[in-house]
Amino acid sequence: MDFKGADILSTGQFSQEDILRVLKLAAKLDKAWAEGKSLDHLLHGKLMATIFFEPSTRTRFSHETAMLRLGGSVMSNPDMLSLSSYKKQETLHDTGKMVGTFADVVVMRHPEAHSVEKLAAGTNTPVINAGDGPNEHPTQGLLDLYTIWKNKGHLFDGLNIGMVGDLKYGRVPHSQCDLLKHFDVRFTFVAPQGLAMPREIVEELKRAGREVIETENFDEAIADMDVISMTRVQEERFIDKNEYLKYKGVYILDSALMEKAKKEAIVLHPLPRVDEITAEIDLDPRAKYFEQVHNGVVVRMALLLLILGKDSEVNF
Ligand code: NCD
Repeated sequence: MDFKGADILSTGQFSQEDILRVLKLAAKLDKAWAEGKSLDHLLHGKLMATIFFEPSTRTRFSHETAMLRLGGSVMSNPDMLSLSSYKKQETLHDTGKMVGTFADVVVMRHPEAHSVEKLAAGTNTPVINAGDGPNEHPTQGLLDLYTIWKNKGHLFDGLNIGMVGDLKYGRVPHSQCDLLKHFDVRFTFVAPQGLAMPREIVEELKRAGREVIETENFDEAIADMDVISMTRVQEERFIDKNEYLKYKGVYILDSALMEKAKKEAIVLHPLPRVDEITAEIDLDPRAKYFEQVHNGVVVRMALLLLILGKDSEVNF
């Protein structure tokens, strides 16, 4: 794909080559940052708008950190639902036209699937999807792949990727699948039937030639996983709160369960966690969920440079 000026709305846009381009640029930036090289000339003079219609800690700050560390500027509305013309019934299309006039790149999160596309239709300014309801979270998917690569040292060949928890409403596992299908991996999905991975995603993986195992038994499945990607039961997506309570706490990764996992397995979680990983796991060297937060910044730096046509200036 031609990154320059592109919207990042869906993981479906990425070929294997595109994914590798982002990950390799992220690795260069990661190294340069660790070595203390100066990066703050790369996006000097560029302005990012972050507009969030749904709560966020990491994703908004991560995009903003990436922009600021590259020397750009940021304007932020973290509560668009109550503090924007959305309250006066402005359409997403018109909001896109407005924000796109002010900024060079727009980062948006919203509780409805495909809402970010509606906003992007109103502007030629690149728009990044920071999560559209239960649908997708492309930049989180990319940073998860980067974390796996960084820890495993190879591009996923033969890995058994376990995804555990709310695979129905979790936009993160959806995006992870859509990116990982381009590589030679196996998938093990652990979810109660009511929170199973959407059928169209399972079918798409099978069409891509990937093996998919679905089970409700985490205790048994964990032993064969190379990546244990945990997810929160997405409380805010349930219309019936009793239905949520039925699933709350359904899978909890604790040290007894970790004993059954491979020595070299890694544990991912996009965070925030509720109760699905106990605090004692934080000390286990296989826990990578806090490292993911750092990786998110370099992956978003890479994406911003590509979208804003400045990636060729990374010549260190
Ligand atoms: C995730 C999200 O918002 O989809 N968090 C994140 O972006 N780091 C996961 C979640 O909220 O459970």
